[in-house]
Amino acid sequence: MDQATIKVTLFVFLFICVTSAPTPQGKVVDIYSFHINSTVTSRYAVTVITSRVANRLNESKEIHFQVQIPKNAFISRFRMTMEGKMYDGVVKEKKEAQQQYSQAVSRGESAGIVSSVGRTLEEFKTSVTVAAFSKVTFELTYEELLKRRLGQYQLLINAQPMQTVADFKIDVYIHESPGISFLEVQGGLNSKELANAVTTLRSDKELWVNFYPTLEQQTKCNVCGPNGMNGDLIIAYDVERPYPSGELKTSHGYFVHYFAPKDIQRLPKNVVFIIDRSGSMHGRKIEQTRDALLRIVGDLAEDDYFGLIVFDSEVNVWRRQLVQATKGNLEAAKAFVRGIRDQGATDINAAVLKGVKMINKHPQDGAASILILLTDGDPTSGETDIGRIQANVKNAIGGKFPLYCLGFGFDVNFEFLQKMALENSGRAVRIYVDSDADLQLQGFYEEVATPLLTNVQLNYTGAGNLTQTTFNHYYNGSEIVVAGQITNNSLESFQTTIIAISKNANVIFQDTLSAIDLTDFIPENPDFIKRLWAYLTVKQLLEKEVTLKGTKKEAVKKKALDLSLQNKFVTPLTSMVVTKPEEEKTQVAHKPKEGVQPHFEHHGDTTKMTPDQYSQIQRFSVPHSQRFHSNRGSRFHSAQLRPGVGNAHFVDTQPVALPDLLITGPAGSAAHDVVDSDLKYYEVHEEDGVHSQTGRRDFFSPRVTMSMDTKNAPTTAPPVSSVRFLISSHLQPKPICYDLPAASKLHLLMDTSSDFSMNGLLSHKGFQLIVFRFKNSKHTLTLSLEGVLYSSDQKSERFVWGQEVSQQESDSVTLILRKNEVDVSMGTMRIIVLRHQKNGETFLWPAVRQQPSTASLEGILGKNKLLYEELPSSLIKFADTEVKASWSTAVDYRLPSAPAVGCWLIPFQSILQGTLSDYTVSDV
Ligand SMILES: *[C@@H]1O[C@H](CO)[C@@H](O)[C@H](O)[C@H]1NC(C)=O
Ligand SMILES: *[C@@H]1O[C@H](CO)[C@@H](O)[C@H](O)[C@H]1NC(C)=O
Ligand SMILES: *[C@@H]1O[C@H](CO)[C@@H](O)[C@H](O)[C@H]1NC(C)=O
Ligand SMILES: *[C@@H]1O[C@H](CO)[C@@H](O)[C@H](O)[C@H]1NC(C)=O
Repeated sequence: MDQATIKVTLFVFLFICVTSAPTPQGKVVDIYSFHINSTVTSRYAVTVITSRVANRLNESKEIHFQVQIPKNAFISRFRMTMEGKMYDGVVKEKKEAQQQYSQAVSRGESAGIVSSVGRTLEEFKTSVTVAAFSKVTFELTYEELLKRRLGQYQLLINAQPMQTVADFKIDVYIHESPGISFLEVQGGLNSKELANAVTTLRSDKELWVNFYPTLEQQTKCNVCGPNGMNGDLIIAYDVERPYPSGELKTSHGYFVHYFAPKDIQRLPKNVVFIIDRSGSMHGRKIEQTRDALLRIVGDLAEDDYFGLIVFDSEVNVWRRQLVQATKGNLEAAKAFVRGIRDQGATDINAAVLKGVKMINKHPQDGAASILILLTDGDPTSGETDIGRIQANVKNAIGGKFPLYCLGFGFDVNFEFLQKMALENSGRAVRIYVDSDADLQLQGFYEEVATPLLTNVQLNYTGAGNLTQTTFNHYYNGSEIVVAGQITNNSLESFQTTIIAISKNANVIFQDTLSAIDLTDFIPENPDFIKRLWAYLTVKQLLEKEVTLKGTKKEAVKKKALDLSLQNKFVTPLTSMVVTKPEEEKTQVAHKPKEGVQPHFEHHGDTTKMTPDQYSQIQRFSVPHSQRFHSNRGSRFHSAQLRPGVGNAHFVDTQPVALPDLLITGPAGSAAHDVVDSDLKYYEVHEEDGVHSQTGRRDFFSPRVTMSMDTKNAPTTAPPVSSVRFLISSHLQPKPICYDLPAASKLHLLMDTSSDFSMNGLLSHKGFQLIVFRFKNSKHTLTLSLEGVLYSSDQKSERFVWGQEVSQQESDSVTLILRKNEVDVSMGTMRIIVLRHQKNGETFLWPAVRQQPSTASLEGILGKNKLLYEELPSSLIKFADTEVKASWSTAVDYRLPSAPAVGCWLIPFQSILQGTLSDYTVSDV
């Protein structure tokens, strides 16, 4: 690694919270707006962080922008906008960028390196001098392919704006066309105090998560301090897998194939654990290793065979060969594990070769063999030449099974382990020295604990430039992803075949892709599969490069570099050069490498900081448990898996996905459920018998489902003119909706404890008028189609729609006007009122983004968390009541995009538990 480029900086100014929250009026550097917008399409996540900062001082000032992004991501864009001018970061080859950096350094400028390594995050940091009373906007974009681990994908968003921000929001949108099967919002920011700031909406294929904490809350949560929030929001989800052969997507001449079959029997495994017990493992490390091993051994299945090797300068085996994981053997193994003591030096070579020999001696037919090495140091005994060890191990394994290397702490030569693992189709994982090291070890083991397939080979005809297509093992909870380019952009000959070995036989999955699958795409980013392909290709080339030498290495490097430059990715081979206004230094952003211990060093710049700036920088590590549990039910099953006779030969042909219209439309077609209502399969036959289709019902769009259901839907016809309301939360299996008569004056929301109320006048689409009252009507806010009127005992102000204003009032009232929305915070309430314009009609719609958890809320929108159970034959059970529901759709006007989502339609009387008159007011 190029030493000169690693000036890793991580701020660790832990400071004691003695000051009270700074008032915005007192903020010299005022981050008045901080938005994070993440869009995930088929696991490919693009996140944009936008921070708007004002220098409220009468002199120029250096303003910092620091954010943390997932390690796995590549930065793809950075822009600063000041006084109407834009400064874009330019991605260059590292060498070239380095020159610029060195020149700056030689001029005596502290051209700070802008990233650093943490456990799951790395930092991007830059600064710019902003003139007196001026503003700057920072915008950073990064991209990543979400990886499936233990049955879920995790989109991790770190929020740490360094001060409280009135206009703070995180908007996440996820689109997965097979459907979303599981969702959980996790992370420090989903703590008790902030949980109410998270709102979610789920439809079959789409998911929206919004996180809008109020100013007050940003100082009061667990992971908050006087300088605002510091924590992560993690959106964990998984997708439906209706076809065993996986999911194929194509767009603009590229394809991606996600392969993660379930409903396969597990394979027994032959596993050998090679445990370093050298002196450096002394103390906590060896204790945690023992703890983890005890649990791992305890989790072995009865048909697994296993071996234990411990080593220092000497190699000891528990048993000379692999033994079956019987109860008796497990007890004996545990006793052995409890007796492991640290001592001596480190002979990695002899230990690993011993492990390979043990596995090789054991019959391997029908089992998955795995070698796991855990070490915390360099080889110091026996063979110590790293190159020779790697060659020995590679020869001995001969590509037959994977070697996983777990590097404990930062004293290991991680690159050595990484190369050795990659050369043997495994991977290296760092175990961080921390209180949860045993959980990290276990978490890793769980990922490989259940092999389902071995020798997986994915073949594609009519495609080229493929990413990796052969995989030693496929483990339960993971996913195999292959991307490539479609030859001549023609789908006619495109076809995939998957061959793998399963428990008793070869399995063949076969799939042909039809052009109609393309219609499923969001047009916003039609290029994303090409980017996904580039992302995956660069990642794999960088891994491959590690294992190569000489001209081959250079060729692979060159290819990865070219792709990085073309796609403007900041990878280990490229850097982003941030050029600033004249006379200011240039900064260079590198992608840090795994395997570098974070240095806790002060950045040169900080000495120049004023106490005010200094106090804005706050860092402390957030523990990231590597272990997450999925609590999905096994609700869905594959409709297409047809076990053959004899040697389990599975053939799956993906049916032609009909466009929605075909299914809903023609009178000549009939749709009916063919399986019980739990599974919801349906069949569509066209009268002429030409077309017949089967599939999962809720796999299709709401429109389709609705029309299919109308036949058996209960006959609770909605009132003649009514407006539909939605209730959604991630705890609900599906959204609930109900109709209210138009032209009502509604009591929308009231919190008696904070003296807050919101009423609205409904027209036939949405609201015409919404009135907020706060603190005994000391603050009144009236929103109408024309504009916004705010009055308090001190003043009265009027705004029109389209104006962009951020207004901080007294008594924790904040008003933010964006183009078509008003963001209102009153105490612990945060409500967005959106102005929708549709078919020439304009109306308002309130979205409660944050409300107190403890207060007893009244009003229609106070009923925002309806937990229910779905019973057979469209019965919905909540509280102690059961009501007949019908599956319908509603437009969610709480989101600017106003998506249509499927929902259970229930009479409002059941939901509101009262009559309409209980929820109306005589005057708004
Ligand atoms: C987030 O980004 C997407 C894609 O760029 C864009 O369509 C959407 O409007 C953005 N959402 C917000 C709330 O800014
Ligand atoms: C800024 O304001 C302070 C006090 O308000 C004053 O003393 C100082 O001279 C001003 N600086 C400039 C550059 O105008
Ligand atoms: C694979 O994992 C899922 C949960 O993620 C579980 O339901 C299933 O039983 C597992 N399969 C095997 C063969 O263990
Ligand atoms: C792709 O196009 C080239 C040149 O146009 C042609 O020679 C080749 O046969 C085509 N390949 C396929 C698979 O259609």
